[in-house]
Amino acid sequence: MIPLLYILRLFPVLSLLSKPLVYAWINYPPEGTATLTHYDLPKDYIAACGCTGKSTHYPTAALSQMAFGSRNNYGPSCGRCFRLTLLNSYTATPPFFPNTNPSVVVKVTDLCPLSENGWCSGTENKTNPSGRYLNFDLAYPSSAITDNFFPSNEKLYGYKDFGVWNITYASISCEQWKGWGDEAAKGSAPNINGCCPANPTGSRDTCPSYSDANGTPPNTTTSDARSLSVSTLIVISFFTFMFSTLFLCS
Ligand SMILES: *[C@@H]1O[C@H](CO)[C@@H](O)[C@H](O)[C@H]1NC(C)=O
Ligand SMILES: *[C@@H]1O[C@H](CO)[C@@H](O)[C@H](O)[C@H]1NC(C)=O
Ligand SMILES: *[C@@H]1O[C@H](CO)[C@@H](O)[C@H](O)[C@H]1NC(C)=O
Repeated sequence: MIPLLYILRLFPVLSLLSKPLVYAWINYPPEGTATLTHYDLPKDYIAACGCTGKSTHYPTAALSQMAFGSRNNYGPSCGRCFRLTLLNSYTATPPFFPNTNPSVVVKVTDLCPLSENGWCSGTENKTNPSGRYLNFDLAYPSSAITDNFFPSNEKLYGYKDFGVWNITYASISCEQWKGWGDEAAKGSAPNINGCCPANPTGSRDTCPSYSDANGTPPNTTTSDARSLSVSTLIVISFFTFMFSTLFLCS
């Protein structure tokens, strides 16, 4: 038994320590504006949600931590599908407004870690440097997305990749995701601590927050999912994030 006095003594310390952890997750609306960055996700890699490796054969994205809903593993945004539509890249000098507004339907399979000032720094109360609460980090380049997906004007800017875009997002059914027809791309990889619903609707088929340890996730393994090795989940997106920050700030 732990002495009561000990608990009482510890309690104020614990509540202080847990203060930064009580940030509320962002309860984002089904449609809105966000920013879009991109990162390298190796083909067949099993990212934070534990979605099958095959999911990487179709468009996927990481979502900024406070919207993702977990610090280091699956969260309630896992498996959700969004239509992302490019608006502009103001950060370019001069700001770039494309003639077309291409869009892509992605499945959220990964976490973009919270940082102080980066693109994934949005919290319930604080926007990222573009004044947005959400950032989608698109797995790109990817065999699932054409190489000229992002509009550019190399002649004017001397480069093609603006790095970060203003976008609109809309939450949609995963039936519209390119991977929907491929059973092996849906659900989570077997035998891992993951949660990747094929088409979460926000009720009991949706992942809880891993970091809040508030429940066992639903079994989101589909019958066709193949087992692939899991390694560190978020390191890659973190390093890409560090890299893009350095890159964009230099
Ligand atoms: C997005 O648009 C806002 C204005 O609405 C601008 O301040 C911001 O720099 C833009 N962000 C990017 C990444 O272009
Ligand atoms: C965020 O805003 C809410 C409502 O204004 C406030 O209650 C809460 O303390 C804020 N959280 C942080 C971490 O600033
Ligand atoms: C989860 O579902 C899959 C596919 O239906 C099944 O093979 C597996 O045994 C289930 N796992 C658990 C822990 O129930």
